[in-house]
Amino acid sequence: MCGIVGYIGQQDAKEILLKGLEKLEYRGYDSAGIAVLNESGAHVFKEKGRIAILRETVDESVQAPVGIGHTRWATHGEPSRVNAHPHQSTSARFTLVHNGVIENYSQLIREHLQGVTLKSDTDTEVIVQLIEKKVDTGLTVEEAFRGTLAELKGSYAIALLDEQNKDVIYVGKNKSPLLVGLGDNFNVVASDAMAMLQVTDQYVELMDKEMVLVSKQEVTIKNLQGEVMERAPYTAELDASDIEKGTYPHYMLKEIDEQPLVIRRLVQKYQDDNGTLTIEQDILDAMNDADRIYIVAAGTSYHAGLVGKQLIEKVASIPVEVHVASEFSYNMPILSKNPLFIFISQSGETADSRSVLVQVKELGYKALTITNVPGSTLSREADYTLLLHAGPEIAVASTKAYTAQIAVLAILAAVTAESRGLTVEFDLVKELGIVANSMETLVDAKEEMEQIAREYLSTTRNCFFIGRAVDYYVGLEGSLKLKEISYIQAEGFAGGELKHGTIALIEKGTPVIALATVEHVNLSIRGNVKEVAARGANPCVIALKGLEEEDDRYVLPEVHPALTPLVSVVPLQLISYYAALHRGCDVDKPRNLAKSVTVE
Ligand code: G6P
Repeated sequence: MCGIVGYIGQQDAKEILLKGLEKLEYRGYDSAGIAVLNESGAHVFKEKGRIAILRETVDESVQAPVGIGHTRWATHGEPSRVNAHPHQSTSARFTLVHNGVIENYSQLIREHLQGVTLKSDTDTEVIVQLIEKKVDTGLTVEEAFRGTLAELKGSYAIALLDEQNKDVIYVGKNKSPLLVGLGDNFNVVASDAMAMLQVTDQYVELMDKEMVLVSKQEVTIKNLQGEVMERAPYTAELDASDIEKGTYPHYMLKEIDEQPLVIRRLVQKYQDDNGTLTIEQDILDAMNDADRIYIVAAGTSYHAGLVGKQLIEKVASIPVEVHVASEFSYNMPILSKNPLFIFISQSGETADSRSVLVQVKELGYKALTITNVPGSTLSREADYTLLLHAGPEIAVASTKAYTAQIAVLAILAAVTAESRGLTVEFDLVKELGIVANSMETLVDAKEEMEQIAREYLSTTRNCFFIGRAVDYYVGLEGSLKLKEISYIQAEGFAGGELKHGTIALIEKGTPVIALATVEHVNLSIRGNVKEVAARGANPCVIALKGLEEEDDRYVLPEVHPALTPLVSVVPLQLISYYAALHRGCDVDKPRNLAKSVTVE
């Protein structure tokens, strides 16, 4: 969701900015723009739609060693050229890009910008106009910038250019992610390190309510009182090839295929020298001190949390509640005496989850973040972090992060159980090895999955997923995958709940994908399949080996019963992928969606 890049140095900025924006495309956006500054002033290019469209409008003859760029995901004002960033002040002296939401923008207009004609419908334009207003009263640009940031309520990552000073980019941050990258005789600004990996792997983290003066040789971080803050850089351990598609037509397919490798890598990362799975003692102490665990997450990560609940309760015997972050934050349940919070977030930046984390920390509770992105906001602000080691996930629809989240939760459950003196009745290292091998078989079954997608989903307008116990949770994830990328209306239901309403929607030919991987509910889910079939539905049963019946559409390789979601989700991911492909959808960048949702 929204991305920012900036460059100041000796080369021409345009291509570096455009390449950087392309690397941020995965976050989701609906318009894009860049502004570059040279002797003749600021040159702004912006367009609705893809960066490829923006590229066509950029005037190649304009050369400039400094610039900023932005991808926008509309919140205030429709996606359009006018609302796209960068935005300029009335005199065009100042040019600004912003990621986030300014909650008090109407108040700021009322109180400070009467008489100023705003060109766009965005909250962002208010910031740049306010800065100009303050400079007009005699403040220096830095004072005006700092003063404006102090007045903003909400979230922001900002980069500002001043036509009268080509030697600096002014940067500010609160809640929204932003990094400064360091180079030799140049420096860059980026929403995440991936955007600028092309030019540097050295980055400096910014904290909330800090501003930075970025020139080509210096980076000066200050707090909003103007005091200089010291910060050591870190090396972004990302492999540029991890963020390339290689020979794959889509990132999503590549990421589905990477799942066996991710599971194997995870096991290695969590093993000590003796091959025993291990977790930091502090985390185990926090798990053992807790009388109840609250898992908080959004989207696919929430679905992984549901599976995690089963694992932690069954294996480690600690009660767990799972909550949707956006609900929890405004509707907090009565908490137990000694809660431990687990935040699950692929990106580590989801604003809904972060807002709960802030509340939880204010209440003095401990929090663990399970994330794919070291140094992300949720990781920094929680007491503890467990990493997913899944490598960058670029496709908006999450796949390998989901299975990595479940695997980490399984490791956490098993190691905690052992630390409490409980017997874990299976060898998790061995069982995860079997899962990885089974995943290989599944990702190799692409033709079969394509055929299922063609058969069941090429013309349908809706589709239901049913399952019982953990299969219900995986069905929720399957339905989310399908609706996200193919736009088929898809819903996941507990098998037993169907007859309480949803069965009314079953018509002749309605596809119902049923999972049957849980032995003690196998007969019940089979009963539900019969109920829908009797009403004309077209059932597609995916069963675990050993539980299969004659008409089942696909049989999953056998894995340990506690780990079935790691395999049963893979066909659902592939079926969704092919359904989207057949329907001509943009698989990696589905409409209206963003990868990292940094607004509440
Ligand atoms: C967005 C993405 C989903 C993701 C959710 C949570 O909605 O489109 O794929 O599951 O955010 O993201 P997180 O990074 O917190 O796991």
